[in-house]
Amino acid sequence: MPDAYIIGIETSCDETAAAVVRSGEEIVSNVVASQIALHQPYGGVVPELASREHLRAIVPVVRQALQESKQTYATLDAIAVTQGPGLAGALLVGISYAKALAYALDKPLIAVNHLEGHIHAVLLEDHAKGNHAVEFPVLALVVSGGHTHLYLAEQRRASWVYENVGHTRDDAAGEAFDKTAKLLGLGYPGGPVIDRLSSHGDPTAVKFAISQMKPRDRRDRSKDQNKDHGLPEISRPHFDFSYSGIKTAVLRHVETHNMRERVEARHKALSAIAQPQLEDYLALCDQETLDLIASFQRAVVGDLVSKTLTAARACNAATLFVTGGVAANAELRHTFEREAAKEGLPAYFPSRPLSTDNAAMIAAAAYPRLLARQFAPADFCAEPGLVLR
Ligand code: KG4
Ligand code: ZN
Repeated sequence: MPDAYIIGIETSCDETAAAVVRSGEEIVSNVVASQIALHQPYGGVVPELASREHLRAIVPVVRQALQESKQTYATLDAIAVTQGPGLAGALLVGISYAKALAYALDKPLIAVNHLEGHIHAVLLEDHAKGNHAVEFPVLALVVSGGHTHLYLAEQRRASWVYENVGHTRDDAAGEAFDKTAKLLGLGYPGGPVIDRLSSHGDPTAVKFAISQMKPRDRRDRSKDQNKDHGLPEISRPHFDFSYSGIKTAVLRHVETHNMRERVEARHKALSAIAQPQLEDYLALCDQETLDLIASFQRAVVGDLVSKTLTAARACNAATLFVTGGVAANAELRHTFEREAAKEGLPAYFPSRPLSTDNAAMIAAAAYPRLLARQFAPADFCAEPGLVLR
């Protein structure tokens, strides 16, 4: 097939994004309008505000992505949009706009799973480096504010099929970063701040124990979401994560170490600064707080890495992908690189801007579907709990 230009649209959470990608491998434009400032005063994403902001931003964002791509509506080959998982109202904005665009332009419409988008963000970078030969099976850790999932992926002709071999029983890892930052008075989102502050603390200062759940075998999984996945029925253990306990442990530490007043003073001082810089955070964090932050991050990173590598061994994975917002974390990347290298397992990550939500990953994930002519029916709906298989 000659070059194919797909415009991707992503509105599943708090980023309104549009991007044009050539043949699933070259980003020709990539526009992300973040709503962080809008949700910051509430310490998390407010779904109703997110939908309204998507509605306001979608037209200018798509226009800018098209303009910067040097393509026109006429030269586009397809329109791709996130179908789920995500916030229902937020997804609906992107889907309605994409449907209208596809109908008006008489172009194919491709529905993309947001999680498959995160996985293809890794490939996008890899393809750009000229590396087309990824060895299968791939074990992909998708770790973000809403998800902590392990997928085993195989390729069937142009398409990929996935089996979920692990997920969080409660909070996602990114959610633990966000909630911990909030209860330390550090604002929202917490991941990037904790990432930068951690190198200033002692990661061995506070001992956190993350719940260790024994891998479940297949018989225990009869009610699992991916019973009908596309991979052959092989008996495989299932790896569970859990991050709600560590958030409670941080809260208990704050209370038993009389840190509450300092947290409130920090929160107040940071709220008064429009765009706090690293120096502002450092000036407002005593060593005890920095040690707590570093210890929290070390515990979460250690758990993500050890469980993922155990799963990689059990599933005989040939390649490891680590993707999603938390994959931007420096300690997570270094630890995965070091530990995977010890096992001779190639580990790939998206670049930091492509780790968090964007639409280039949606356009990239749509390319194999364009080749396979897997188009969405005109009446397809948003699916907030869409499963990847
Ligand atoms: O992928 P993403 O943009 O949205 C979801 O699909 O959820 O991920 C956002 C999440 C937030 O929880 C944020 O705190 C976390 O990713 N995050 C990080 C870092 N950058 C973003 N967590 C740890 N370290 C980072 N550098
Ligand atoms: Zn995401």
